[in-house]
Amino acid sequence: MPTSLSDCKPAARELQRIAQAGGLNPQFHTAVILGSGLGSPGEIAMADGGIAVNYADLPHLPTSNVAGHAGRVVIGSGHLSGVLLFQGRVHSYEGHSLEKVTFVARMLAQLSVQRLIVTNAAGGIAAAFRPGDLMLIDGHWSFANVQLRHGDARGRSCGRLWSPQLIERAKSINTPLTLHCGVYAMMSGPCYETPAEVRMLQTLGVDAVGMSTVPESIVAAERGIDVLGVSCITNVASGLSDAPLDHSEVAHVAGSIDDAFTAWLFELLRLLK
Ligand code: 6GU
Repeated sequence: MPTSLSDCKPAARELQRIAQAGGLNPQFHTAVILGSGLGSPGEIAMADGGIAVNYADLPHLPTSNVAGHAGRVVIGSGHLSGVLLFQGRVHSYEGHSLEKVTFVARMLAQLSVQRLIVTNAAGGIAAAFRPGDLMLIDGHWSFANVQLRHGDARGRSCGRLWSPQLIERAKSINTPLTLHCGVYAMMSGPCYETPAEVRMLQTLGVDAVGMSTVPESIVAAERGIDVLGVSCITNVASGLSDAPLDHSEVAHVAGSIDDAFTAWLFELLRLLK
């Protein structure tokens, strides 16, 4: 039988084979998807003896062309044993199907990973949010056309999508960063919102806005993986400040919290071991 391009088993097997061949733990328990400009924990994991695997070297894994997305997964070593750090993701706005956007989540379920930490760069809408703050996602809106055709998402409740236990753990960590909880809205992109759209989102109780995270989180959660969503607030959404918005600014702000974000994430991973 020909293998489907959405078949994640060969990629899962290959990742385990590479871990084993490199003397690393192939029983992965936690995965982290690192969003735009947030790749630093992957670099540190490499310096600590991790092994990097390019997405292009894993069967059927989609690859991204967005600046700030490395397109590789780091297999953790030492205190990151059993952890996978994905540097970069693909987005629907790049023209990828939802099957491709959610491929990693299905591969993680195949690998029996227990939890997924999904990070993104997002625009702040809540008045209290400043660039460089983190928001733990405790609810979401999707304005993008998230039509998941495969699997068993149909009719499933998304009411407990964002793990309250993981949010509590994440909040308990001592950090110089300001942590909020809030509602994330996924827009289809690739443009940032208009000021009118931002006012609409404000009235709906949205706290931060981005272009990712929701599809892969739905698929992971429906397959029994506990999901924590983390938005790095990189800018104030359009119309709420005079500053112009562009991708390089987003990458710059995400990069400026590198050390504190990495320390916070590694502490969380240590608690979750
Ligand atoms: Cl303001 N909007 C969206 N959709 N994505 C973003 C963002 C804003 N800032 C960072 N990512």
